[in-house]
Amino acid sequence: MSKPIVGIIMGSDSDLKIMSQASEVLNALEVDYEITVVSAHRTPHRMVEYAEGAKKKGLKVIIAGAGGAAHLPGMVASLTTLPVIGVPIKSSNSIDGWDSVLSILQMPGGVPVATVALDGAKNAGILAAQIVGTFDEKIAENLVVYKNQLREKVELSIKKVEQSNQ
Ligand code: RP5
Repeated sequence: MSKPIVGIIMGSDSDLKIMSQASEVLNALEVDYEITVVSAHRTPHRMVEYAEGAKKKGLKVIIAGAGGAAHLPGMVASLTTLPVIGVPIKSSNSIDGWDSVLSILQMPGGVPVATVALDGAKNAGILAAQIVGTFDEKIAENLVVYKNQLREKVELSIKKVEQSNQ
């Protein structure tokens, strides 16, 4: 693996079962990434260090997942000029997921976090690859193949559904 260009961080290792969907899709799209735990509330100094050092070490995008009072994506976004993609997680301390969604989504003007759906780490991975694809032609080509596969899958399902009605 060469130098990571996407950083995947999460508030707890309990988020890994969701956040591994981002790493899986980045693997499939051949995007180099790093993955670790950074807790906004329990390791605030580590969070500052990570966010402030991310651009310097070559990262182009950060994917940050957290649940409940999910401050990690927004706080990281406040500390870097890199695009931050936020993944709200329906964690054990979340009431029903809305707390995580709103904590990440409702950022003040000036500090954007590109928020995906609840537990939407797969889309976060694809979006990160799309950002990287704006300057990396190989990744852009991999995304075209990926999108073609999605279309072909639906085309197969169209045939299956229509034939079941004959
Ligand atoms: C958040 O609290 C984490 O991102 C996680 O989603 C949630 C629960 O953390 P644990 O108690 O499982 O460590 O900060």
